[in-house]
Amino acid sequence: MDFRIMVAFFLLIYGHNHVKSFGRYITWDDIKIREDYKDYTKITERLVSFQNHGINQSRVIVVDQNGGGDSTTLQAAVDMVPVNNSVRVKIYVLPGIYREKVTVPASKPYVSFIGDPNHASETVISWNDKASDRYKDGTELGTYRTASVAIESDYFCASGITIENTVVAVAGGYKMQAVALRIAGNKAVLYRVRILGTQDTLLDETGSHYFYRCYIQGSVDFIFGNSRSLYKECSLHSVADKYGAIAAHHRNSEEEETGFSFVNCSVTGSGVALFLGRAWGNYSRAVYSYCDIDNIIDPSGWSDWNQPWRQRTAVFGEYECTGKGADRKKRVPWSKSFHFEEAVPFLDTDFIGGEDWLRL
Ligand SMILES: *[C@@H]1O[C@H](CO)[C@@H](O)[C@H](O)[C@H]1NC(C)=O
Ligand SMILES: *[C@@H]1O[C@H](CO)[C@@H](O)[C@H](O)[C@H]1NC(C)=O
Ligand SMILES: *[C@@H]1O[C@H](CO)[C@@H](O)[C@H](O)[C@H]1NC(C)=O
Ligand SMILES: *[C@@H]1O[C@H](CO)[C@@H](O)[C@H](O)[C@H]1NC(C)=O
Repeated sequence: MDFRIMVAFFLLIYGHNHVKSFGRYITWDDIKIREDYKDYTKITERLVSFQNHGINQSRVIVVDQNGGGDSTTLQAAVDMVPVNNSVRVKIYVLPGIYREKVTVPASKPYVSFIGDPNHASETVISWNDKASDRYKDGTELGTYRTASVAIESDYFCASGITIENTVVAVAGGYKMQAVALRIAGNKAVLYRVRILGTQDTLLDETGSHYFYRCYIQGSVDFIFGNSRSLYKECSLHSVADKYGAIAAHHRNSEEEETGFSFVNCSVTGSGVALFLGRAWGNYSRAVYSYCDIDNIIDPSGWSDWNQPWRQRTAVFGEYECTGKGADRKKRVPWSKSFHFEEAVPFLDTDFIGGEDWLRL
């Protein structure tokens, strides 16, 4: 076969997109800003330095509310990322409260939002839409469209920032769902990110995600969706006034590999009747391992969402948890105290297929 035909054939078979995403890993470098970018006042130097780096080097866009960076808003920085982007672009966000809604569209993979991991509360992206609010065309927003930050692209990273929805849902209020973060891209790492809201704070919608040392605050179903996610060493903080729930996982069939796994997390806050999880889908799956759980949990622990048949198929497990809230004496009998062998698949990044995309 002619060499050129072979090359064309190869490109046809493997395709540009395949070559682009094959063997891509998220590493610590993707969620850090190199020290020499930190002095954002030296803009000229920064621009020169990324010109000198090859196309395979990540570039940095600085967001500064006070006008010293490349953009004053997060969304304007995202808009600068080229469509079909194939290199890591780090959006370095200087401290401040950014009052805006931000979307990273599916066409812009490899984007990182980076603040200072030791001062995540100083860099805040804040908005306040709730489900009953109206869209431009007059229709109700619904839960999905309320997100302050929506991530639709793959290989997203964030560290050292706070994402909030400031709506305060009152129990029994009409359509008070108010999402802070909706994440629907595949393969994402969030490190030391604070995600704040009340009802439906984090829509962990689809894809495989790793939340490491994050702080997630809410009241009712405050982590929900159908992702396959590992939450490691996170703080789950309830602001429920009476009752509430942490995880509402939406798995609908046994074939789906999705689930929420909480490992070595702390569960704290208010309320006295917080469920660890509610079965949003027939095969809802949530597991808590090595978690420290305060005395704020409804003793029954788990809810079938008033759909009793879900008791047969939901996978709700607890393994080696501590704290008064971990007492399983009054748990619903269809939840499980896991044996080690049952817990193992949920305990590390293997659960989220990490060997294919994580090098942390
Ligand atoms: C970028 O490309 C240069 C030269 O082609 C190579 O030496 C270097 O290892 C590459 N860096 C990365 C991070 O891939
Ligand atoms: C981006 O990629 C899609 C799918 O491969 C293609 O249809 C589109 O034309 C590309 N857009 C640009 C601006 O390159
Ligand atoms: C839990 O996390 C702490 C650090 O936050 C660590 O010291 C400890 O070893 C972890 N425990 C388990 C069982 O992984
Ligand atoms: C959940 O299970 C019920 C009872 O078997 C069934 O009627 C329903 O269609 C199932 N829902 C989905 C989304 O598969």
